[in-house]
Amino acid sequence: DRSIKIAPSILAADFANFGAECEAIEAQGADWVHVDVMDGHFVPNITFGPAMCAAIRPHIKGVMDVHLMISPVDPYIDAFAKAGADVITAHVEAGPHIHRTLQAIRGAGVKAGVALNPGTPASAVADILDMTDLICVMTVNPGFGGQKFIDMTAKIRTLREMIGDRPIHIEIDGGVDPKTAPLVAQAGADVLVAGSAAFKGGSVSNPAPYGENIRAI
Ligand code: DX5
Ligand code: ZN
Repeated sequence: DRSIKIAPSILAADFANFGAECEAIEAQGADWVHVDVMDGHFVPNITFGPAMCAAIRPHIKGVMDVHLMISPVDPYIDAFAKAGADVITAHVEAGPHIHRTLQAIRGAGVKAGVALNPGTPASAVADILDMTDLICVMTVNPGFGGQKFIDMTAKIRTLREMIGDRPIHIEIDGGVDPKTAPLVAQAGADVLVAGSAAFKGGSVSNPAPYGENIRAI
């Protein structure tokens, strides 16, 4: 369905409290939980891996949406699938064989996503549309939360046209807030990742701001 889903990124949560943060953000209205995996190689920051995903899995009732900002991807797909990912998204820039990577993700029984950095055109996914369940349009250069939104609405419109009636989500990641969310939704996005805009002002012991933030997006 094309209703808008909000996917808070736990990159903006309290790293000492991930289990409780996942429960709090879902209780406050999150549709999906977005998990940003970074390797200090594909992107200039390091976060966490499959063991952490497995640890938080029991604390998430809905979709665990795993965004891999790592290179290579293929050696780790099974580990993230076993950790309980519902969606695994790999970057088209992370290696020469995105077709093989998407095949491996679906082969592991997980929905396959493909992410595009701001500098990568929509045409990069033209030949893999039938192998993908989600296209993640990065609206920041990946690596850090809290960065300024880069307008990719033209790319989103192009992708929506290319997708036609295939059941493919368009997810937006980076700088999504109450101001930018309507722009990307209008252009055809249906899953909105929000880190800082979702978690700001709240905490596990004071989760009400999470709900206000999510409703404002
Ligand atoms: C960026 C990550 C995003 C990021 C979003 O590398 O992939 O998911 O956490 O954070 P905000 O919403 O703060 O830009
Ligand atoms: Zn992300």
